[in-house]
Amino acid sequence: MDNEKLFIPILLGTVRQGRESEKVAKFLFERVRKNSQIETELLDPRLMNLPMDNEGEDLKFINPGYRNAIMRADGLIIVSPEYNHGYPGSLKRALDILLKEYIHKAVGLVGVSSGSWGGTRVIEKLVSVVRELGLVVTFADLNFPKVENLFDEQGKLMDEAFNARIDRFLAELVWMSTVLRWGRQNLPSKFDAQIAKLEAEWQEKTK
Ligand SMILES: Cc1cc2nc3c(=O)[nH]c(=O)nc-3n(C[C@H](O)[C@H](O)[C@H](O)COP(=O)(O)O)c2cc1C
Repeated sequence: MDNEKLFIPILLGTVRQGRESEKVAKFLFERVRKNSQIETELLDPRLMNLPMDNEGEDLKFINPGYRNAIMRADGLIIVSPEYNHGYPGSLKRALDILLKEYIHKAVGLVGVSSGSWGGTRVIEKLVSVVRELGLVVTFADLNFPKVENLFDEQGKLMDEAFNARIDRFLAELVWMSTVLRWGRQNLPSKFDAQIAKLEAEWQEKTK
């Protein structure tokens, strides 16, 4: 097993003005940054180019930062608010700009809500989406219910009970990301050729 840090970016799942999920994503970003096993980056759909007149993989060519982060990633953390028991359209539009780039990488899901359930319903719905993308979802989710009461003005999480939950969430994600990186590096897969072709196409179109 190599000792290279895992690269696990954090995708914030909404562009809404006044989004509370941003506090969760920023707090997790600082926590993950301090983990010696992980290198991370915050991916914000507000900073992506997601025009309303197109969808899907065409859009990766105008979002090289997102594409390169996912290609390099060993895992992904998605921080999603719950909107009408589902995920925000902006999160789905961001995820949909790639496909095979996600294959055999781990994903940990974080639900955020103003209600008491902490985004459990959006997490359940995201499971089927990430599975279709080829991501491998962990079973240690994180939930942030009543989010507007959780952080102080400096973005500090006021309830200490979250610390142990975050540790468990990250431990599972590190384990899964490590196993999958070993697998990608050591076990042949029918997707290897397809992903190499994607990379060659990317190099050709972006040179
Ligand atoms: C369009 C929309 C739908 C929402 N639906 C739900 C919901 O189904 N369940 C819930 O607990 N909160 C719901 N909320 C409240 C969010 O949980 C709340 O805004 C929370 O702060 C997280 O979202 P945010 O990151 O956009 O702030 C909804 C908010 C919006 C804007």
